[in-house]
Amino acid sequence: MLNQTEIADALSRGKFDPPWRCEPLLGSTYGEEEVDAAVAAIREAMDVSKGFGFSASPIPEFEQAFADHVGCKHAVAINSAGPGLDIAMRYLNLQPGDEVIVPSANYQAAPLAVFGAGGQVVWGDIDPRTFQLDPADVQAKLTPRTRAIFPVHMNGLSAPMDELIKVGHDNPHPQHGRLPVISDAARSCGGGYKNGKIGKKGLMTVFSFHTMKNMTTLGEGGMITTDDDDVERYCRSVRMYGGGVGAWGTSNVMTKVQAAVGLVQLSKLDQFIDARHRLAEERHKMLEGLPEIILPHEPEDTRHSFYLYTCLVCEEWAGEKRDRLIAMMDEEFGIGCGVANRPVYVSRKILAEHTTGQRTPVAEAIGERLLCVSLHPAMTDHENRTIAAALIRCVERLRH
Ligand SMILES: Cc1ncc(COP(=O)(O)O)c(C=O)c1O
Repeated sequence: MLNQTEIADALSRGKFDPPWRCEPLLGSTYGEEEVDAAVAAIREAMDVSKGFGFSASPIPEFEQAFADHVGCKHAVAINSAGPGLDIAMRYLNLQPGDEVIVPSANYQAAPLAVFGAGGQVVWGDIDPRTFQLDPADVQAKLTPRTRAIFPVHMNGLSAPMDELIKVGHDNPHPQHGRLPVISDAARSCGGGYKNGKIGKKGLMTVFSFHTMKNMTTLGEGGMITTDDDDVERYCRSVRMYGGGVGAWGTSNVMTKVQAAVGLVQLSKLDQFIDARHRLAEERHKMLEGLPEIILPHEPEDTRHSFYLYTCLVCEEWAGEKRDRLIAMMDEEFGIGCGVANRPVYVSRKILAEHTTGQRTPVAEAIGERLLCVSLHPAMTDHENRTIAAALIRCVERLRH
């Protein structure tokens, strides 16, 4: 851990201005390469025989490059992860009463996708160390109406896919067979699992290229990955009104300008993740031994993408004291810290009403202790050090 001299030195430059947000508004970095790629794509579109032409080059090239990166058979580009999650749930053709188990400590998109597709959300509880959907809790919540398991790769780390796939395999639905595992990797692009990349396991995985994410296609965008030919055909058709598979659909296509930029961002993704990882490791060393802060956990078979640097405060500091720590970091040092995420039923009334009577005690308790501290691939070593020093200083003050 940093000593007092190092802390004083790191804090000598004062408050960050502009502040470092918990989730900076640009999650990756952009350079002239992205600008050149966008301009070239626009120039090509100026030819009236080409235009911005839907599904035109380089959208297929971007899809192929993303599939290669993940190591799966297909990738289907979409306009945003939210509609991708909707497409995934609609693929299941849920009937009233059909259940999908989704972690409660989550962003709103995945549970809303279940709800929107006519299914019943069943809240799964989480592992208190990794914040991922807990396979044992999923097992306990299975019923003959369970149709799918829907983990989110929370905050940059992989969900325990093999364990979840096994639960789905061992507990088939009476009519539809083994339960598919469909995952939300919006925050985990570039992360790893068992010597591969997130997005390779399960029936399908949905990624986001929103502006705050690990890579971005001009602020919006997403990708669905799968090894299943039928899923690929369905997603490809439904993102363009569904005529090809005789299903409901709407327009969820990506533009070729986004795809051109996506190819450049993808070529840098490993560097972005390496930078995040290196900063996180440095930060671990600077904070190690601070009793009130439990540092992020990275299970051996995963590679964390550190979309968020997710800590916990000790049990005694849950709730109000954690919130004071967040406020102090922001007010005194210009460092954003967030809570990602409390159970969604706390923040979304529509989902609370839809799941009346369901509780997830671990996610509720962890939600009072989460502390996500700003991290970004472009952060300098000195900035990272200042952030660690500020956290130690705030914790020391709050001790008394
Ligand atoms: C876990 C999670 N899922 C889904 C989404 C939705 O992504 P998009 O903005 O690309 O629709 C987000 C975005 O913040 C997210 O964090």
